[in-house]
Amino acid sequence: MCGIVGFTGHQAAAPLLLEGLKRLEYRGYDSAGIAVIDGDTINVAKVSGRIANLCEKTHDGADTPGSTGIGHTRWATHGAPTDLNAHPHLSNDGKFAIVHNGIIENYAELREELIAKGYTFLSETDTEVVVHLIEMYYKGDLKAAVMKTTSRLEGSYALGIVCTDDPETLFVAREHGPLILGIGVGENYFSSDVTALVSYTKNVIYLDDGEFAELSPDNVTVYDCAGRAVEKKISRITWNVEAAEKGGYEHFMLKEIMEEPGAVKAALAPRIHGSDLKLDDFELTAEQLRDVRRIVITACGSAYYAGCAGKFAIESLCRIPVTVELASELRYADPIIDEHTLLIVLSQSGETADTIAAMKECKRLGAKTIAIVNVVGSTIANLADHTLYTWAGPEIAVATTKGYTTQLAVLYVFALYAARRLGTIDEQTYSALLADLHSLPKKMQQTIDMNHALPELAEKIRDRQSLFYIGRNTDWAVSLEGALKMKEISYIHTEAYAAGELKHGTIALIDDGQPVIAICCNDRLMDKSISNVVEVKARGAKVIAVTFRGDTRAVAQADDVIFVPKVDPLFSAALAILPLQMLAYYVAIANGCDIDKPKNLAKSVTVE
Ligand code: G6P
Repeated sequence: MCGIVGFTGHQAAAPLLLEGLKRLEYRGYDSAGIAVIDGDTINVAKVSGRIANLCEKTHDGADTPGSTGIGHTRWATHGAPTDLNAHPHLSNDGKFAIVHNGIIENYAELREELIAKGYTFLSETDTEVVVHLIEMYYKGDLKAAVMKTTSRLEGSYALGIVCTDDPETLFVAREHGPLILGIGVGENYFSSDVTALVSYTKNVIYLDDGEFAELSPDNVTVYDCAGRAVEKKISRITWNVEAAEKGGYEHFMLKEIMEEPGAVKAALAPRIHGSDLKLDDFELTAEQLRDVRRIVITACGSAYYAGCAGKFAIESLCRIPVTVELASELRYADPIIDEHTLLIVLSQSGETADTIAAMKECKRLGAKTIAIVNVVGSTIANLADHTLYTWAGPEIAVATTKGYTTQLAVLYVFALYAARRLGTIDEQTYSALLADLHSLPKKMQQTIDMNHALPELAEKIRDRQSLFYIGRNTDWAVSLEGALKMKEISYIHTEAYAAGELKHGTIALIDDGQPVIAICCNDRLMDKSISNVVEVKARGAKVIAVTFRGDTRAVAQADDVIFVPKVDPLFSAALAILPLQMLAYYVAIANGCDIDKPKNLAKSVTVE
């Protein structure tokens, strides 16, 4: 969704802004623009469509000279994705330009007020009220005007502002939207996403809600909500720009699938200490865990499905009831949450609006919170009582892959850790499961290596109108994510079903030649799963089974087989999902789909 960047220094700003915006493309957008201060004028260029159009329009920034500027990628919410609605927006006097991420909820009444006072609106956006408010409140002190303006705003914002009276200064403000300052030498930057900064600097400051900052080429000052200067920690980005580049792969999605064994290793390694498990910078004692009567996992999209798989591991090992709730539902469900509830929040980006809202509601009701998040310094990471980072590195493809498997890995660590402290697991089982956990990265690599025939399998199903995914227990959780992967990048309708439920409806849709992908990786339930395979076969289905290498039970019934190495069923989701991600990828390739930027989707969904 929307992204913002800003630069102030002694070199041309526009090429750097355009480069920064390109790094934000992966988030999903439909228009873009930049504004650069040149003497006492602000040069603005905006286009609907791709950044490439903006580069063409500005001759790669040559037409917008100046060394201080701001840029924006917009994912339309208020008003169509037109040139006029694209950011930056200018004040009527031409003195101010702003870019904005987020939504101003009270924009309609502010707009009326401003129109009554004579301000002219050029766009349909909620954002434009902000720049007119700044103009209205400006009496020669930009900080005062911004503070007065933000005190009138309801909703969420990360704002970047420039003013011709102070041509080397960027002003930024944050409330419920990511905003990171990049600290350079003789130049400084801001962005909503660290990916846009990493090629320029690795030193960053994460702003908190309610904070403002003023950036000039040689200075950065951060203010709290009362306008007092505050000391902020400078953090180091731990990955290189190459991590956010394709590195020879045709698509980010394929690169990120190939990175999964390494990413899961990075998620597990700092937490496995010999025969013991550790939870980063915090501990949960047996007493604290016994106080937990219920665990609620909340998330959206694939993170929700990771929660569905993790539930089985936590319940089975810790004997604590776990419910998995879609964040967009939980927040409005009048949930039964109290101080004996542990809320586990899963999010790759740490910025998903519904997840944040659900988390806030549960915190208000007294829940303790643990966030399992990939993006360091993100809103969800900051809101949680404790954060477990997934250390997957930057994930650029809209369809998450390593984000999902690293969430699983951290959930497994949590389940084993908590079970041992609670005494709900015997030492022998603990050691066996720990060994299995330890072997996951290696087995994930084997899974990738042994499934080189997936492109041919993809050919067989690429022109199907519909695909069914079935499984039981953890296999069902994998079906949900496998089906989502396929639909989001190949646009083929898919349906995931708990295999035992087939007879209650879905089986009516199975007829001759209908592909059914049956996940059969749960040893304990294998016979039951095979019965369901036989049922669909009897109605003419073509079954693709995902099962353990060396196990003949599913092989005997299936038309095609995808093998994965054997692992305890509690952890098998981390292996079984890999070939399903790859299958979705190859089907989408075969159908000529835009793999990394599927239509209508965004990487980080920052609107409700
Ligand atoms: C979007 C992404 C999904 C992701 C979901 C939740 O829909 O396209 O891949 O699973 O948001 O995102 P989060 O960042 O909270 O994990």
